[in-house]
Amino acid sequence: MDSALNPFTPGSGARPAALVGRDSEIAAATALIRRAAANNKPARSQMLWGLRGVGKTVLLKEIRDSFVAAGWLTVSLEAQRDENAAQMARRALARDLIVSARKLRSRRDKVGSAFTRMLETITAFSLTAGVAGVSFGVDLKPSRGRADSNDLDIDLLELVEDATTALAEEHVGFVVFVDEIQDLDPTTLASLLSAQHAASQDGRHFYVFGAGLPNVPATLSEARSYAERQFDYREIDRLKDSDARLAFTDPVQDRDVEFAPGAVDSLVTASGRYPYFIQEFGHHAWELASGDTITSDDADLAASHGTDALDRGFFRARWERATRAEQTMMAAMAQDGDGRSTITDVVERLGKSRPSDLSVRRKALIAKGLIYAPARAELAFTVPHMGAYISRVHHDLL
Ligand SMILES: Nc1ncnc2c1ncn2[C@@H]1O[C@H](COP(=O)(O)OP(=O)(O)OP(=O)(O)O)[C@@H](O)[C@H]1O
Ligand SMILES: [Mg+2]
Repeated sequence: MDSALNPFTPGSGARPAALVGRDSEIAAATALIRRAAANNKPARSQMLWGLRGVGKTVLLKEIRDSFVAAGWLTVSLEAQRDENAAQMARRALARDLIVSARKLRSRRDKVGSAFTRMLETITAFSLTAGVAGVSFGVDLKPSRGRADSNDLDIDLLELVEDATTALAEEHVGFVVFVDEIQDLDPTTLASLLSAQHAASQDGRHFYVFGAGLPNVPATLSEARSYAERQFDYREIDRLKDSDARLAFTDPVQDRDVEFAPGAVDSLVTASGRYPYFIQEFGHHAWELASGDTITSDDADLAASHGTDALDRGFFRARWERATRAEQTMMAAMAQDGDGRSTITDVVERLGKSRPSDLSVRRKALIAKGLIYAPARAELAFTVPHMGAYISRVHHDLL
């Protein structure tokens, strides 16, 4: 069928034509908006965690859109491991803060004194981060000693205080969204958690929404002991069967195309109900079909073409992030399929004598976001079906 009309969206953070199975997270976010509108106390923000390609980024963006539509001040940050990570994070925060504040400003004819103070504090926060050249179309007196100490703990507290004071007048608040939060530098992470903690005790609507890998809950607890109670942790997982079917059928229905009986079943099975794979297989099924019905043959062929495409793209890109030594360790894990491996087994398979013999590789693979420790002395892939990929393509290493 016409490629130009292909409704499937394999890709990182690409909004799917049908965003299914995430209603409860979206509703929980909307509930915070309604609480603020009703002048009620703040509640917990969400921390989304799950494997690669399950749809965390898409969901985080969707949630951000609801806050933006409700008139909240919002900032998004994608955490990166880098030498100057803290400085870069502050700069990214500052830049997005300006964009968001300008939007809020443009929705108003007049701005009151609290709003002006918020803009002044944002300006000071940004200048301190080295982000200059901001105009909000209001006369500002930025040098008031707010959010300009260059100590993120202090500056963030002051920024949150001034922003939420202004926004509370309109029954809205301020949210920071952090994607790949497991990679956020410890200073920025601790400051964000402290600011959210202080705000909630003060009854201010300031939230940190995050998304990341399964090690996120543990990483956050290490940063601040109270982090465990601070968030509504949500595991974002593969879709349930009925939602996976909808993820295939909804987008094509919009284009007056349908699946023949049985075609959806084989695609649902091939995808393992993982959102990324659903998009990849759906994409191929559309490309291969010739009429306005996607047949079972099209679906079977799509499963095989889709698997090839994943092997050459999605899986390979991740595999190649690892060094040769790290790859052999992943290959040893792949003997357990896509399930968990115990470190003892992996040590033995690699002919080593102690777990500490693997600690360098283990740490590097975790830092690269390829594996995580689901429990003490256990390891698992962050990428669904990675074990099967290794067995399929890199059997020479097994
Ligand atoms: N609820 C959903 N229903 C159907 N498809 C979805 C859904 N959520 C995401 N997708 C699709 O899944 C793919 C991966 O989405 P996304 O990039 O958000 O995943 P992720 O969890 O952030 O992955 P990573 O850990 O690699 O960052 C995209 O192609 C997207 O279109
Ligand atoms: Mg993502």
